[in-house]
Amino acid sequence: MTDSASDSRSGSIVASTLITLAGGPVPRRGRDVATPEALRDGALVWEEGLITYAGPAEGLPPGPGPAPTRLEGACVIPGFVDCHTHLPFFGWRAEEFEARLGGRTYRDLHGEGGIYRSARLLTEASDEEVLAFCRPLAGEMAAHGTTALELKTGYGLSVQAELHQARLARRLAAQIPQASVVTLLACHAVPQHMEREAWVQAACDELIPAAAQEGLVDAVDVYVEDIAFTVDDLAAVAAAAARVGLPVRCHADQLGATGATEAAVAAGARSADHLNHVSADGIEALGSGRTAAVLLPASTLFLRASPPSVPALLNAGAAVAIASDFNPGTSPTLSMPEVIAVACTLYGLSPLEALTAATVNPAWVLGLSDRLGTLEPGKRADFVVLDTDAFRMVPYRPGHNPVVATYAAGRLVAGGI
Ligand code: NIG
Ligand code: FE
Repeated sequence: MTDSASDSRSGSIVASTLITLAGGPVPRRGRDVATPEALRDGALVWEEGLITYAGPAEGLPPGPGPAPTRLEGACVIPGFVDCHTHLPFFGWRAEEFEARLGGRTYRDLHGEGGIYRSARLLTEASDEEVLAFCRPLAGEMAAHGTTALELKTGYGLSVQAELHQARLARRLAAQIPQASVVTLLACHAVPQHMEREAWVQAACDELIPAAAQEGLVDAVDVYVEDIAFTVDDLAAVAAAAARVGLPVRCHADQLGATGATEAAVAAGARSADHLNHVSADGIEALGSGRTAAVLLPASTLFLRASPPSVPALLNAGAAVAIASDFNPGTSPTLSMPEVIAVACTLYGLSPLEALTAATVNPAWVLGLSDRLGTLEPGKRADFVVLDTDAFRMVPYRPGHNPVVATYAAGRLVAGGI
């Protein structure tokens, strides 16, 4: 490091392996990982939080400062971008996990617990309690290499409570080291004592315009499922989001096939997420449309669900991202190395496809790809130092945290070198 003080935002390193993922179109489609070979002895230089050089050590421009720190046996990669999480939430739901192991299903538990339970826990906690619960989780994410993430509402379930959760998300964003965007999950569960149609109307006519007016959110999401909302509701929400200039995203085909993926592509959605039961038409639509396929392998594992046909998605040319889906119901893991491990073993991604799907492509999903997602001059110095010089070791060793140090905007935010 040029300056060893942890609040420095400038420095330089040379690592045994550097994977920049720079170059090529964004998002990457199909099996395109743009820079498949890792650089041996790669250098990274950053000043005031921005990258000024990323390339071979021998091409490093001579500078007046101290020699770069050599990281022998290490691999440096772009920071992970977790483009689908349900933070901020409050409290866990381990009893539901145990009940599912005993034979209950996520659908069975939906009415008596599930999203409604998290909504109750959120209402009962003070704002300070929620922030105090979430901040260390964001710290744990940083320790696992996440340098940018999505925050989402969806546990409010009334216009005022959803707006309140979005404000809390913005407050949390200001208290964590990562870059973040906030998504309004306007339609997550039908509020109790309300008809579905009435809630969709309130979401479209009141909630989405109010959230946009106050500048609280960067995107809008809707959960299409037989226990939640319909493809027609998705079309209505997409139109309401478009009226206020926000991109729409969709929880699509998670528990069963609903045609949500095709509808999301038709609505011009930024992403269709989950996709466990995506149809052949849905795969074809993702291959040719402008909607990214966000895969959530950890929730597949925890729900013991069947994976989507990922080879078919890649062969069709879909832009694939992977994310944690971090939430207390279907995916209590926040570790992107773990998500990458499951994506490789359960979904059949190659290690570099998984890395691309965890950095470049999710940055595009969050609308941040001009600022982060790859290591190249002008981008934020968001990078991770791994304890191995071969990235394939990450999916090969699930359960092991390979992250030695995480830098966000040039500042050390977890671990150390
Ligand atoms: O993405 N299934 C819908 N929404 C979340 C789970 C939310 C919860 O159970 O609290 C998901 O899996
Ligand atoms: Fe989700």
